Amino acid sequence: MPLVAISDREFMQFQRFIYDAAGITMSNGKQALVSGRLAKRLAHHQLDSYSDYLRLLESRSDPSELQMAVDLLTTNETYFFREPKHFSLLRDLAVDAREKRQTMRVWSAASSSGEEVYSIAMVLADVLGDAAWEVLGTDISMRVLQRARSGHYPMERASQMPQDYLKRFCLKGQGSEAGTMLIDRSLRQRVQFQQVNLNEPLPKIGCFDVIFLRNVMIYFNLETKRQVVSRLLSQLRPGGYFLIGHSETLNDINDTMTVVAPSIYRKA
Ligand SMILES: C[S@@+](CC[C@H](N)C(=O)[O-])C[C@H]1O[C@@H](n2cnc3c(N)ncnc32)[C@H](O)[C@@H]1O
Repeated sequence: MPLVAISDREFMQFQRFIYDAAGITMSNGKQALVSGRLAKRLAHHQLDSYSDYLRLLESRSDPSELQMAVDLLTTNETYFFREPKHFSLLRDLAVDAREKRQTMRVWSAASSSGEEVYSIAMVLADVLGDAAWEVLGTDISMRVLQRARSGHYPMERASQMPQDYLKRFCLKGQGSEAGTMLIDRSLRQRVQFQQVNLNEPLPKIGCFDVIFLRNVMIYFNLETKRQVVSRLLSQLRPGGYFLIGHSETLNDINDTMTVVAPSIYRKA
């Protein structure tokens, strides 16, 4: 339990902070979450109140502290082969690309710690082998990107991973690493991770055949969802696929896409 209580006013200031930084709308009643996640930063800086910590952030004297606060206030839950029907679709698209000898570029736009990226890469490596394919993973949180680059995970994250992929693409931890697994270097070398804030103009990342934007829109308000989706769609090639989380929808957000199935959209 945090030793210092957070006042309603301080909480509202953190709501504003994370909205300005990431476009995240944090609902009321999340005081315990904010105070719990940031308590260690107060302790680290030996601060007596959340207002003092806010003042430190607002002084912009330490950009790494701003990043740290963003990292702590984002929710990064993810696992391998989450929502398996998206990976069946990806397999079909990869088979089609193989037959037509086309390249494939896939973007995981809120990749968190990389499980989504490596799940995509395993399917593409399986179907396309050494042919030209690329996977880019991006996130606003540097902490999760660092974990993603390491490719080192607790074994329980892989409970949905097909067994033959586990054997082919992962190394099982031994001794002190028991209970963990490491993504094989050959697969790690084929994927890229980059920090991108979806709530800002995008850097030059090129055009994609498939974009995964899963389980992040839930944190955005309607206007932010519209802006983020339209920004991402400008990077999707005509006929490309746009995949969202199964509890999300593009209703009221974008009406230019064809609905292929719930959570699967296609650009005209
Ligand atoms: C719950 S995870 C989803 C991970 C994965 N896509 C999945 O479905 O399993 C949401 C991720 O969105 C990221 N995120 C939140 N706001 C963002 C923003 N403005 N730009 C980029 N990433 C953001 C968070 O850091 C977090 O890692």
